[in-house]
Amino acid sequence: MKGIILAGGFGTRLYPMTTNISKQLLPIYDKPMIYYSLSTLMRLKIRDILIISSKEFINIYKNIFKYSYKLGIKISYLSQNYPNGIAESFIIGKDFIGKDNVTLILGDNFFYGLNSGILKFEEFKKNFGAKIFAYKVNEPQNYGVINIYKNNKIKNIIEKPKKPNSNYVATGLYVYDNNVIKKVTKLKPSKRGELEITDLNNLYIKEKKLEAIFLQSGSVWLDAGTSQDLLKASQFVQTVQDRQKILIGSPEETAYFNNWVSKNKLKGIISHMPENEYSKHLINLL
Ligand code: TTP
Repeated sequence: MKGIILAGGFGTRLYPMTTNISKQLLPIYDKPMIYYSLSTLMRLKIRDILIISSKEFINIYKNIFKYSYKLGIKISYLSQNYPNGIAESFIIGKDFIGKDNVTLILGDNFFYGLNSGILKFEEFKKNFGAKIFAYKVNEPQNYGVINIYKNNKIKNIIEKPKKPNSNYVATGLYVYDNNVIKKVTKLKPSKRGELEITDLNNLYIKEKKLEAIFLQSGSVWLDAGTSQDLLKASQFVQTVQDRQKILIGSPEETAYFNNWVSKNKLKGIISHMPENEYSKHLINLL
């Protein structure tokens, strides 16, 4: 299973913070936003990861993650010339995906409490279809609302409906079989000029091959695309980290948790970090 983090976009809702900086480099409390999506993919046991961002920021991402190979993961980088839509990830990432299945996470999506067993990749046969992660929210009308048949297969996803008939919404985490590479070539830009992820998902729905995975109650999903949600995510991370003396969204912590890095190797990695709260947390972990 390959993983893609989509970290481009306009970042209009976070203007003026995004005037000169990629949205996914803005902090959620004490780390760049992209740390959280990277850690989420790692929690799901995905090690081969592609970061897609605008050309101007690619070198910054390369620099931030230049030692990531020490964590037992491989990160590749490709640019998106213009924010032509989320589904364009699979056109840009075609060669990276190769013959594999692929998980896509949006770089501004924050997940906490995902059980690492939530996806059993070894059970994913060829042509399994696609899976999206559904989360129960209070105000579904602001999101893509999912209507589901009894067997977890999705009937439809309606963007921002006035009268939602379910509280389950689609998050920014998706798993596709290799057919996604072919399917995405069938898409036409929408009215707003983007290759829409919803249109791609609709192709799977047509074949009754889109399934929902429900995030457990107690897990958290936030989309950090607005100032309010960015602050909420920061406050959440600060509260949980301070209370439990843990790190949320740390690739180093996750690699250690996954046994991808030994205690000694992690000690070596920490020794190159400045002494601060982040490295202190990691030392505590050891
Ligand atoms: P959005 O938050 O929907 O779009 P945006 O980042 O452009 O923000 P705004 O609406 O405030 O202008 O995008 C969701 C995620 O996908 C986000 O991490 C950015 C990323 N993205 C791309 O990288 N390329 C794209 O073409 C699009 C549409 C989104």
